[in-house]
Amino acid sequence: MQKTQPRPITILGSTGSVGSQTIDLVMRAPENYHVVALSAFRNVKRLSEQAHALKPDLVVIADESKYAEMKDAVADLKIEVAAGEKAVVEAAERESDWVLAGIVGIAGLPSTLAAAKQGKKVAFANKETLVCAGPLMMDMVAKYGCKLLPVDSEHNAIYQVFNATQRDKIRRLIITASGGPFRTKTREEMAVMTPEQAGKHPVWKMGAKISIDSATLMNKSLEVIEAAFLFEMPSDKIDVLVHPQSVIHSMVEYVDGSVLAQLGTPDMRIPIGYCLAWPERMETPAPQLDLIAKAQLTFEAPDPEKFPTLRMGREAMRLGQTAPILLNSSNEVAVQAFLDNRIGFLDIEKVVGATLEHGPVVPLTGLDVLEETDKAARAFAVEKVAQLAAQRK
Ligand SMILES: NC(=O)c1ccc[n+]([C@@H]2O[C@H](COP(=O)([O-])OP(=O)(O)OC[C@H]3O[C@@H](n4cnc5c(N)ncnc54)[C@H](OP(=O)(O)O)[C@@H]3O)[C@@H](O)[C@H]2O)c1
Repeated sequence: MQKTQPRPITILGSTGSVGSQTIDLVMRAPENYHVVALSAFRNVKRLSEQAHALKPDLVVIADESKYAEMKDAVADLKIEVAAGEKAVVEAAERESDWVLAGIVGIAGLPSTLAAAKQGKKVAFANKETLVCAGPLMMDMVAKYGCKLLPVDSEHNAIYQVFNATQRDKIRRLIITASGGPFRTKTREEMAVMTPEQAGKHPVWKMGAKISIDSATLMNKSLEVIEAAFLFEMPSDKIDVLVHPQSVIHSMVEYVDGSVLAQLGTPDMRIPIGYCLAWPERMETPAPQLDLIAKAQLTFEAPDPEKFPTLRMGREAMRLGQTAPILLNSSNEVAVQAFLDNRIGFLDIEKVVGATLEHGPVVPLTGLDVLEETDKAARAFAVEKVAQLAAQRK
């Protein structure tokens, strides 16, 4: 029998939560893969461990000041080492069959777009890219024949039950939300929550930024925008439903009243494995779903009074054009300031709300407009953070 060639894959953001879980799957059958490239921002230690385990052709450390340290760490391996943002893009462009876009934030945009432009299978975790560059990204996906496979568990669930040939028969998409760690807290209680408390998600173990986004529920707003672009659905046909057990990962409701859902234990290796194996399926080490042990699945309506970021997301979607960039970029600045203990938890929504209100919203005609908007939104948000930080003293 002819031996099949190992499949060439690239993992961007390999040291992160999604990246590490992808590597966990790859390590279970390393002979099936040829790892072309791995990338990280500045975590030399983990990237070096991964390089030793997987022997990629190339490792990229985005922070150029870490180049010498990275080179030293893998000096015993015969692999290429590169540094800097451009090198991450070059890694995305290298010949491979599958790329994980697992970088967090808008920092992942250039490499995600580069992978899409190669017409590859792109396992897409980096939701901030689609939020900011939705129309540009989807045009590129269509033009270059890229296969965009959603890693986000909600979008992955919808993808599995979304019948594109019956798009006009879809009444709505229902994105489920665990409700985050502060679901049952009051606004007064939330006001004094620390980054440690906000980062403790009740169900999922994720990276720092998305964990805070889950606590503010901004993550759901980003996901509604992501779904609108990914599935080409108007945002008024996308609802959010709080489901604390996170067993139903999302649903599609058709006009005949049928509601199709994907269920599973909350383990990111399920959606990642789906993307890695697509169009086949692979076994994953995720625990099997035991509905008898779960006993109860419950649902609640989301509360935009308690979590105003839900309203802000809708407003950004309604405004369209560059508004989602204002939302996303100011949120990235505010979340980092909260993680650095410079502003309070409820200040995050103040920074985002003020940035959205400040605008301006202009037509998103290209990447240059995106970059300018991102820069201006960040500058405004930084000022707002400074004001709020001063008020705290
Ligand atoms: N975690 C989840 O369960 C989950 C679920 C759904 C969707 N997502 C989405 O997946 C993406 C990744 O999330 P995550 O939780 O895995 O994040 P994470 O744990 O913080 O990991 C982020 C990865 O991106 C790298 N990175 C950070 N800043 C960078 C920069 N400026 N340039 C290049 N690389 C950079 C990090 O490198 P270092 O380690 O060196 O900093 C790390 O490898 C996000 O968009 C998130 O919304 C995550």
